[in-house]
Amino acid sequence: MRRIAISVAASSLALPLAACGVMSSSGSSTDATPAKGNDITVGVLMPEKTNTRYAEFDYPIIKSTVSQLTSKKGSSEYANAGGKATVQNAQMQKMIDDKVDVILLDAVDSHAIRAMVKKAKTAGIPVIAYDRLAEGPIDAYVSFDNELVGEVQGRSLLEALGGNLDSSDKIVMVNGSPTDPNAAQFKKGALSELTGKVTIAETYDTAEWSPDTAQAHMTEAIGKLGKDNVAAVYSANDAMAGGIVKALKAAGVTKMPPITGQDAELTAVQRIVSGEQYMSVYKPYPDEAEAAAKAAVALVQGRDIEFDSLTRDSVDSPTNKKIPSQLVSVVALTKDNIKETVVADGIYKVSDICTSAYKADCSAIGLK
Ligand code: BGC
Repeated sequence: MRRIAISVAASSLALPLAACGVMSSSGSSTDATPAKGNDITVGVLMPEKTNTRYAEFDYPIIKSTVSQLTSKKGSSEYANAGGKATVQNAQMQKMIDDKVDVILLDAVDSHAIRAMVKKAKTAGIPVIAYDRLAEGPIDAYVSFDNELVGEVQGRSLLEALGGNLDSSDKIVMVNGSPTDPNAAQFKKGALSELTGKVTIAETYDTAEWSPDTAQAHMTEAIGKLGKDNVAAVYSANDAMAGGIVKALKAAGVTKMPPITGQDAELTAVQRIVSGEQYMSVYKPYPDEAEAAAKAAVALVQGRDIEFDSLTRDSVDSPTNKKIPSQLVSVVALTKDNIKETVVADGIYKVSDICTSAYKADCSAIGLK
């Protein structure tokens, strides 16, 4: 129903919208194309490799969901850009040349990929932005509530500083890649919690979300502030938190200040167990990946009601308005809820986390 409503609104507004350079994302390129059956190919483009989530969770879940939904007749074509926008452009071009039926795109650079999104659209291939909101005429967006991720990180940091909270406490903020719109949302959410309550003494953006660059940022911040004057570190994700811990250890810090993260990477969960990292954000990958796979298959198969029910939220990108979306909720992961989150969802077994090096720490927090 909503899609019909938007189409009507869009056609009556077509001229003014085109005049100011804003296009509606409704009126999908598939509307005029006959719906397809089960013999379909879903192109999956992931952004980088330093983070384990893409190869370990996102892609395998998407792949198996596509297979299940198509009685094992549908397949997925996968490419990971390794953090390089030019590589992703070439990978997307190949998928267009291969005539995949739909593309799930997790953009390295949401702006730079815009021309490729248009190309896919012209070739009749719908594009669903996955996790990061790509610019251009995308058909839908499936992600987590990214501002909430930042809020959860900010709140947890304040909670970790607890009764000792003082607005002159010096916090180092290590944000993600400036080409990833999620990084700006994480930062916005975190600052909404932290501003006025602590002092953000040093703040960095981190190209390609590189853990090595995050480590270098932290080393620089320690040089400026002194190793004993860092009350807490906001790290936008777990992989960078790993680099930050290395920098603190190299400077001679033995008891880590509270450090945030996100993604619930196994090494981060182990750092949480041992007290080297305060928290992560658990983003239930199956919810995001299954929703995206379902929306992709429904879109190419012309099952509009299902597609609409999967994308009831609505977001705007810098180029397009009212993009049908699904934004999945997230939860803080600390040493107190490992069992109820990543273990309960089957992401890790207790034995994956509590390897011999972590046995004692696991029993100390009752994780068994
Ligand atoms: C994702 C995070 C991830 C980061 C680096 C973000 O867009 O939402 O989960 O840690 O990219 O890959």
